[in-house]
Amino acid sequence: MTTEYTVGQLRAAVTDAVRAPSLHNTQPWRFRLHDGGIEVAVDPLRGLPATDPTGWGARIACGAALFNLRLALAVAGTPATVRLRPYPAEPDVVARLTPDVPRRPTPTEQSLYGAIGRRFSNRAPFWPDPVPAEARWRLGEAARAEQCWLELVIGTSAVNAFAEVARSAHRVLERDPAYVAERVAWIRSEPAPDGVPATAGGPQTEPQDLLPQRGFGGRNRAPGRDFEPEPLVAVLGTPGNTGTDQVVAGQALQRVLLTATDAGLAVSMLSQPIEVPAAREALRLSLGRFGTPQMVMRVGYGQPGRATPRRPVDEVLDLPVARA
Ligand SMILES: Cc1cc2nc3c(=O)[nH]c(=O)nc-3n(C[C@H](O)[C@H](O)[C@H](O)COP(=O)(O)O)c2cc1C
Repeated sequence: MTTEYTVGQLRAAVTDAVRAPSLHNTQPWRFRLHDGGIEVAVDPLRGLPATDPTGWGARIACGAALFNLRLALAVAGTPATVRLRPYPAEPDVVARLTPDVPRRPTPTEQSLYGAIGRRFSNRAPFWPDPVPAEARWRLGEAARAEQCWLELVIGTSAVNAFAEVARSAHRVLERDPAYVAERVAWIRSEPAPDGVPATAGGPQTEPQDLLPQRGFGGRNRAPGRDFEPEPLVAVLGTPGNTGTDQVVAGQALQRVLLTATDAGLAVSMLSQPIEVPAAREALRLSLGRFGTPQMVMRVGYGQPGRATPRRPVDEVLDLPVARA
């Protein structure tokens, strides 16, 4: 059994890790090899002070990248033991992975790994076809496997109540010029290695739309047309809300997203009601759950789309300095 990961293993796994989602596609992560272990850290230079003042979003993104990293290492036959936030004095280091006993990947690991490159945020309207019960169950299992809960918002009145909370959070955020400036600054109309391509932004929101989609410069659509029939809304949550809980939530988020992709489902995220504390509390109370909502997803059958760009792997690696 190997006791240390190599630069080659790190580089290969990070190629998959960076496919994780992040707020405005800022990709707020760094990866390093340290004493034979792979470490994942929040990149403080890629923060969003107005949108994500507490660093919740960056920790969710790093947790999602960590889940991809775990899968990539497992599928390569070199699974990891993971310690979350291993250094109390360095809370930005969200995880340390060391080699575990080599074994063959499980079928679930293989199929989730296969979904990494196919997953993307699908902000276009979904088809009216309902998500089957078996797929709903699989999404819940994915969250539970990562020590989180997933609550589906079922029924017109529950969805309307959720939508009201989400729209009011959206209005609160859009009234903040610093938040708007950050959102606009990360829209990309030319090819770029980060930010949200305007082509991935989804159609512009119309006043009658049920769910408030964050505006990323998407195309206009015919006024007066409804966006989509009742979508499936899913809320992912954790028992607590420490920084470590948020890293756990990021891993669960990615597991749910990959499970959905593997089941042929499309997903987009709506985090406005998570970002506004009063809305998050209203959401928590409406669900009647202990713990904290960490992410909201819209799930359904989507139109084809494509993965968004990422920075080259070398830009996110901190490699040991080679001795002369
Ligand atoms: C913490 C977090 C919050 C997000 N919030 C939203 C959101 O409110 N609206 C949205 O359209 N996308 C949201 N996203 C999705 C990102 O914009 C998306 O992951 C990023 O642009 C990369 O694109 P991809 O998911 O297609 O790879 C969020 C992602 C994360 C990790």
